Amino acid sequence: MKSSSVSSFSPRLTEADLTTNESSFIEQAKRSRQLYIEQPYDLYSEENHEAWRKLYARMLPRWDRYANQHFLKGIHSLCLDPNRIPRLEDVNRFLKPLTGFQTKAVSGYVPAFVFFDCLRNRAFPTTITIRRADKLDYLPEPDIFHDVAGHVPMHTDKNFAEALVRFGECAHTAAEIAAGIRGPDTRTHYLTSVIRAMARFFWFTIEFGLMRGSDGFKVYGSGLLSSYGEIAHAIEAPEVQRYPMQLEWAINQGFEINHYQPLLFVVDSFDHLFSLVDQLENWMKAGKLSNVAPGEPGVNEEDLKSFLHAELT
Ligand SMILES: [Fe+2]
Repeated sequence: MKSSSVSSFSPRLTEADLTTNESSFIEQAKRSRQLYIEQPYDLYSEENHEAWRKLYARMLPRWDRYANQHFLKGIHSLCLDPNRIPRLEDVNRFLKPLTGFQTKAVSGYVPAFVFFDCLRNRAFPTTITIRRADKLDYLPEPDIFHDVAGHVPMHTDKNFAEALVRFGECAHTAAEIAAGIRGPDTRTHYLTSVIRAMARFFWFTIEFGLMRGSDGFKVYGSGLLSSYGEIAHAIEAPEVQRYPMQLEWAINQGFEINHYQPLLFVVDSFDHLFSLVDQLENWMKAGKLSNVAPGEPGVNEEDLKSFLHAELT
């Protein structure tokens, strides 16, 4: 096991474990442009497992208090080990029979179309690294705790899974519409706007969504479900604005990722969420996503290319 004093004097990428931003295995995969990878389970160090154990133990009481019932049921169905990082093949063994979803290990950033298209095919690109055990709180990038403990339990729910697949289909529709646009500048403008709209929708629902329940608001967004501090803040803090989900607002609303969210949207159910995704696609077809408000999030070259080069099967 490495100690913090050793790692502070060593070149960071010589570490042999699977710590976020420090793993030579992941850097090697990225260098060879390998997006889909295996989960080399033996590379997890005891410190990596310790990070999982600490994260899981401190989230449990918060999930009981703030998470929606579908998530709690999902955590139970996946039989996650509170003490060890899960093997994705075990997760898939429990997950696939429920909704057809499967996790798929990735080395890092997944361009927008590729990510959304995986959802359409009931695959969830899953990070396999884990944050440092001595820095549990803030991590701008996803790790296996966010992806497997925050997202995957939601994928055990049939209605939620259908909404996610439907969202993936929207990306397909966007790529088809873009392919029919002649001028490259007009096409780029269109895609930038649509990708931004979809990313905002995803953020305000799948990542940070709240659901109305009989006993108040509950959390279903994975960004909240994997954050010890923010899950309580999202429900309790008087300064957080919580509004019924309004599509026209969400797709035009920028967001920042480096602080607690000041604005959250509430859905009534996953059927409601599904109907919102339907509406998103209808608006896309009607041209209503072609000029959404500029601002965050940025749309990068890779995201654009992924839509331009989409294989529309
Ligand atoms: Fe996420």
